[in-house]
Amino acid sequence: MQDQTPKAIVEQLDRFIIGQHDAKRAVAVAIRNRWRRQQLDGEIAREVVPRNIIMAGPTGCGKTEIARRLARLTGAPFIKVEASKFTEVGYHGRDVESMVRDLLDQAIAMVRAEQAQAVNEKAEAAAMDRLVTLLLPGSDPEASKRRHATASVAAEGDSSAKGGFVATADSIESKQRLREKMREQLTAGALDDKEVEMNITRRPQTSVMFANMGLDQMDPSMADMFEKIIPEQNKRKRVRVEDARRILIEEETDKLLDEDKIVSEAIDRTQDAGIIFLDEIDKIATADGPGGKGSPDVSRQGVQRDLLPIVEGSAVSTRHGVVHTDHILFIAAGAFHYAKVSDLMPELQGRFPIRVELAPLTKDDFVRILTEPQGALTRQQEALLGVEGLRVVFEPGAIDAMAELAAAANERLENIGARRLMTIVETVFDEINFDAPDRVAAGETELRITDAFVREQVAPVVADADLSNFVL
Ligand SMILES: Nc1ncnc2c1ncn2[C@@H]1O[C@H](COP(=O)(O)OP(=O)(O)OP(=O)(O)O)[C@@H](O)[C@H]1O
Ligand SMILES: [Mg+2]
Repeated sequence: MQDQTPKAIVEQLDRFIIGQHDAKRAVAVAIRNRWRRQQLDGEIAREVVPRNIIMAGPTGCGKTEIARRLARLTGAPFIKVEASKFTEVGYHGRDVESMVRDLLDQAIAMVRAEQAQAVNEKAEAAAMDRLVTLLLPGSDPEASKRRHATASVAAEGDSSAKGGFVATADSIESKQRLREKMREQLTAGALDDKEVEMNITRRPQTSVMFANMGLDQMDPSMADMFEKIIPEQNKRKRVRVEDARRILIEEETDKLLDEDKIVSEAIDRTQDAGIIFLDEIDKIATADGPGGKGSPDVSRQGVQRDLLPIVEGSAVSTRHGVVHTDHILFIAAGAFHYAKVSDLMPELQGRFPIRVELAPLTKDDFVRILTEPQGALTRQQEALLGVEGLRVVFEPGAIDAMAELAAAANERLENIGARRLMTIVETVFDEINFDAPDRVAAGETELRITDAFVREQVAPVVADADLSNFVL
């Protein structure tokens, strides 16, 4: 964390997102400030509140992408919530605190995965032991030691027992050798396709069940109660050795993990490092514009009011304990086409002191987006067709043409930002994606994508206004 200087964070973000320097800079500073706060002593550390951020910019210009990448590279618990969903039918009045619970769930999963990684070696060894016992019943050294102990107690005083003892020791040794052999074969994966019978315990997936029933909003202690009422299912089943091993590793991992420690670490991490990305914040601002007047302003205002305590800092009770939201970082984003940041409640505005504007993307940006990021669309296309045995080569003119067509389509139709590139690339590769296997079968190995080819593929769509609305 110490070497995650603002500059370093921006550089990391640069690998995935083109331009938008101001936004990158703002989030990098916010992250650094949280780290700084964590180095402070109790008293002042409590006073420092996060500098929440509002990102304003047209659709598809990288707002969500920046927040998502940021979370990934700082290892922070992160969730994305559409602020507007709380105004929708079926969601209206839905508990906005649920976002904090979701964030905690995320943190718990994260911490658990880390800890599972830490005990992985132990869990694998224990699982292997159990698997060997399943495959060689009666060979378990612990079990036979126990049996032997009782047998020798019963035989005490009986002189003939002595011979029996030697034989048992011998067989323990040979069983040990047998187990060793079995272990080797298992490790080599030689038995993966064999089957083994085992007990499988299935804990009911209550959280999923509750979410489907809308019960995830219920009182945490109620949820706990439900979970206790629904019994675990225990079934004897034949499974492939490969799967048995996975199941056993999971069971052994569960045994090794300290659930309480995971939860308390997760709560700490949620409170100190959690990031909540509030998307479509502009949709809960009350402004005039299409659907502004006479639209359900009451509910938008209501959502803002509901959000306020969470953003200001409050204690949210979850089924795992109380989470204080005072130091959670909120990054809000919106297009702010009709509404302005100033149309939000003053109290809420005050909690988002940092405002950054993201610029609409230009043709030049598109050229870079198509080629520079690690997972750039052109690279994806190269990789996918590479699987078929077709080497795709983009000529510079082709990239330029795609960027130009994307920019033009954004201008003429609707500006959907970098998302337009996806539709352009798909259109260009439409036929090739379909007949690539035939081309390879016919001996083709390389495919040069030229400026002319790009225009040829996209032209019919562009020529037909209705069609272009539909396809591009
Ligand atoms: N500046 C950029 N550099 C690289 N890729 C980008 C950039 N902007 C957008 N993209 C790509 O476009 C897609 C959409 O971007 P993103 O989800 O960040 O849009 P957004 O700004 O959140 O839009 P919305 O307001 O609709 O939510 C993503 O796949 C992202 O990778
Ligand atoms: Mg978005």
